[in-house]
Amino acid sequence: MSASDFSATFTTTPFRNLSSSSYYITTSSKVSFKLQRHVSNGETRRSFRVVRISASSLWPNTDSAVTPPSPAESNGALEVNGAVESRYSFLKCDGSKTVHAAERLGRGIVTDAITTPVVNTSVYFFKKTADLIDWKEKRQFSYEYGRYGNPTTAVLEEKMSALEGAESTLFLASGMCSSSVMLLALVPAGGHIVTTTDCYRRTRIFIANMLPKMGITATIIDPADVDALEAALENNKVSLFFTETPTNPFQRCVDIKLVSELCHRKGALVCIDGTFATPINQKALSLGADLVVNSATKYIAGHNDVLAGCISGSKKLITQIRSLHFILGGTLSPNSAYLVIRGMKTLHLRVQHQNSTAMKIAKLLETHPKVTQVYYPGLPSHPEYSLAKRQMTGFGGVVCFDIDGDIMRTIKFVDSLKIPYIAPSFGGVESVVNQPAIMSYWDLPRSEREKYRIYDNTVRFCFGVEDYEDLKDDILQALDVI
Ligand SMILES: Cc1ncc(COP(=O)(O)O)c(C=O)c1O
Repeated sequence: MSASDFSATFTTTPFRNLSSSSYYITTSSKVSFKLQRHVSNGETRRSFRVVRISASSLWPNTDSAVTPPSPAESNGALEVNGAVESRYSFLKCDGSKTVHAAERLGRGIVTDAITTPVVNTSVYFFKKTADLIDWKEKRQFSYEYGRYGNPTTAVLEEKMSALEGAESTLFLASGMCSSSVMLLALVPAGGHIVTTTDCYRRTRIFIANMLPKMGITATIIDPADVDALEAALENNKVSLFFTETPTNPFQRCVDIKLVSELCHRKGALVCIDGTFATPINQKALSLGADLVVNSATKYIAGHNDVLAGCISGSKKLITQIRSLHFILGGTLSPNSAYLVIRGMKTLHLRVQHQNSTAMKIAKLLETHPKVTQVYYPGLPSHPEYSLAKRQMTGFGGVVCFDIDGDIMRTIKFVDSLKIPYIAPSFGGVESVVNQPAIMSYWDLPRSEREKYRIYDNTVRFCFGVEDYEDLKDDILQALDVI
């Protein structure tokens, strides 16, 4: 098979050169190839490369006479029989071959693999300078450098956009990276933000200690205090309102529709950290928020094996954030992107299971004599129960509750549990449990902890996907012990 078998002609202008079309041809060995034709710089030179091997399973395993062709581009001809060596005849030494053979001339992309391939590269090459110039002048799409994009991560971003109902999503190396890059990108130096009291501690530290370096100040309000939000909007030029909903750890809920209306009237953006909800339980953008941040480390990836974070919203805002990310970095690795994609495929199943388990256990705990309070937005006793019912379709897999006793009795309960790991984080397939006072606030004296309502007897139980009956029995036996 050679290039001369194709007689189509092309009209191309210099540097506007990637006219390509696809063909399926069949060789005598019953293997069909999807070929892509490239025409360069108005010259008549044509090259063909395999972009898809469509029926490789037709190769008999025992037929040693047939060597599968390399999917790499060949210079004018498709070599089928042992021609890999000759295509790389410009590489004389093993040391060059180990580095470049099968890669330097380009390789085919297996487009019919069901799973998204991990593109483990930090750099992308251009076949010739004309391609580079075409890319620079925006006539041709290309990747260039890992900080500016990756095909595996691009798949993940599109998947997340589809779930959040967003025009665009940016994935980064962690949830903290996502919220801090978002704040740095969208709040001007000397600007003002509003945020809420109950939130992930590192976010609180970033807002309190890092943003002031840029002259950015914050008003901190109770999650349900709409009057305080209105006052802050009235008295300051607020750029952005940032809040979790539900919050960490007490799962307070913020009325996304209402705060969005109030903020938009005053020209302020609304960004919701939806990590506790996930896009399965809550669609913050459709409720009016401009942006939604997720620590994908939690439910989204869901297997306690990867750190990741993302921001979803309009193309305009995400482009602004992405531009700063191109400078700051915090890039998600392609391997991590693959793990998140893989995890996301069961997100809806996991979250539904976790919603169901948490709801049943929350109800059970509320009636238990050794538990004084349960914090779960799906319970009528929760301060924002009716709001949660309105804006969420499920209430998540985390239940916080207070043990009737002091720190030692609470430790005894936690240590008596047999299924959950004593660990931070939540949203994974394995249940985890901790006392926020010890896990997240142990460096502060009790009096300081209590300012954040972090009491010694509070337990945060984050349900995995284990069976409800086993988890219930485990919790009841641990309560019996104390
Ligand atoms: C609500 C919330 N947002 C953000 C984060 C930070 O995410 P990451 O750990 O992926 O940086 C966390 C971490 O626990 C969290 O609970």
